[in-house]
Amino acid sequence: MAGQSALITGGAKRVGREIALALACAGANIIVHYRSSSHKAEELADELRGIGVNAWTIQADFSDTAGVESVIDRAIDLAGPVQILINNASAFPLSEFETVTFDDVVNSITTDAWAPFALGRRFGQTPDAKHIVNLIDTRVYGDYDWRHFAYHAAKNMLALFTKMSAIKLAPRVAVNGVAPGLILPPEGKPQSYIETLKYELPLQRIGDPKFVAEAVLYLVTSEFVTGQVIFVDGGRHIREAGRG
Ligand SMILES: NC(=O)c1ccc[n+]([C@@H]2O[C@H](COP(=O)([O-])OP(=O)(O)OC[C@H]3O[C@@H](n4cnc5c(N)ncnc54)[C@H](OP(=O)(O)O)[C@@H]3O)[C@@H](O)[C@H]2O)c1
Repeated sequence: MAGQSALITGGAKRVGREIALALACAGANIIVHYRSSSHKAEELADELRGIGVNAWTIQADFSDTAGVESVIDRAIDLAGPVQILINNASAFPLSEFETVTFDDVVNSITTDAWAPFALGRRFGQTPDAKHIVNLIDTRVYGDYDWRHFAYHAAKNMLALFTKMSAIKLAPRVAVNGVAPGLILPPEGKPQSYIETLKYELPLQRIGDPKFVAEAVLYLVTSEFVTGQVIFVDGGRHIREAGRG
């Protein structure tokens, strides 16, 4: 991937950080987008430069829809031609069927569906764009996530946008998704939050952010895959689909 550049949203820590490291180890320059984790983003950029690639940071809050698309132009101003966009940023608020509000749904759609869609659409208009990968969620296929109602709706919308964008941005740009399962507990929650669920998975283990990064790396180096979603979930989606 030498000579290519990738913009990774929400890339300062956790899964986004692993994606940044994996793409940098393959030779790509990285633009780390962050919302609030400026210190972690700068630390990661230094680490990436230590690997021997160029790295930049860029700040934006996607809950402000007005500034979303300009992130693509800001990234290109900073880094020059950008070939890869990884839509990883996400918010994971609790919300339930009985109490979810219109604002809850709008907020989740804004960050988890509209922002990746709008970024991807603008990115697709730029001359060097080649690959978009959207981070989705294993539960778009199979069971419903009743505790994160609005988030779940937004990720389903993102899965739809992934396939529709793959058609509209072809043949120049490939648009794919990666759907993680139990990888990391939500920020601030203990590992036990997901550990107790592992025996429900066919592979009976918790995933690692590296497994997600490997799937992203495959997709951004593939020449013949678009509109695909790779489930990195220990088989969770097949088990849940089997329950009807
Ligand atoms: N972790 C899992 O096991 C799991 C399971 C299923 C799906 N996924 C999906 O995989 C991706 C990565 O997971 P993760 O757990 O590493 O994500 P995460 O920690 O929940 O979120 C990643 C980053 O998104 C950024 N973000 C949140 N709200 C934002 C906003 N309004 N504007 C801009 N950026 C915002 C935050 O950046 P700052 O820190 O800079 O504020 C955050 O660090 C996500 O799309 C997630 O939905 C993860």
